Amino acid sequence: MVNLGDVFPNFKADTTEGPIKFHDWQGDSWAILFSHPADFTPVCTTELAEVQKMTPEFKKRGVKLIALSCDDTESHKNWSKDVLAYGNCQGKELSFPIISDSNRDLAVQLGMVDPDEKDKAGLPLTCRAVFIIGPDHKLKLSFLYPATTGRNFAEIVRVVDSLQLTAVKKVATPVNWTPGGEVMVVPSLSPEDAKAMFPKHEVKNVPSSKNYIRLTKEY
Ligand code: BEZ
Repeated sequence: MVNLGDVFPNFKADTTEGPIKFHDWQGDSWAILFSHPADFTPVCTTELAEVQKMTPEFKKRGVKLIALSCDDTESHKNWSKDVLAYGNCQGKELSFPIISDSNRDLAVQLGMVDPDEKDKAGLPLTCRAVFIIGPDHKLKLSFLYPATTGRNFAEIVRVVDSLQLTAVKKVATPVNWTPGGEVMVVPSLSPEDAKAMFPKHEVKNVPSSKNYIRLTKEY
């Protein structure tokens, strides 16, 4: 298992773009590793096609993408053709690599095994994990969905925006925040510092009279 704040494992793996060592592949960019149970499966195909179409959104944010699926590289390369055709995508190759995890080493190391899913040979499959890793190689966000529930990659872009904002500003993003929306001054900032950093912030009156809900439009 990798916890938030841990340095993400610097694993070696074979991918559709050749062998990698994770930290070298990542460099000093943000990175997202997202896993799939298996190649040539319907939900996974819809997800990969969506990510391919959303590649410019991730590029704009300086985020490198890498997928993982429990099959070998040859299978990934063949499956990619289906993904591109399904998504009506231009080009002959996906714009991100897919890691091969045929022996499930990474599935186990990263805590991604879905207990309900097995392949034809009875081997476990991974769930739909997402790991967002900062330029410092530390884990900033993770979630696990079961194999039967496809992810919402627009939400993943939204959380990247939140992570990148809150990495540099003393703010946190409230429920359903989207870029440009009001944000909250972080609780650890003293009232004096909050006033200095966010002169126009608003403190909400609440029955407890505790001045902890501090909203700001400027950040
Ligand atoms: C799918 O991608 O459609 C899928 C894969 C494994 C289990 C269930 C669904």
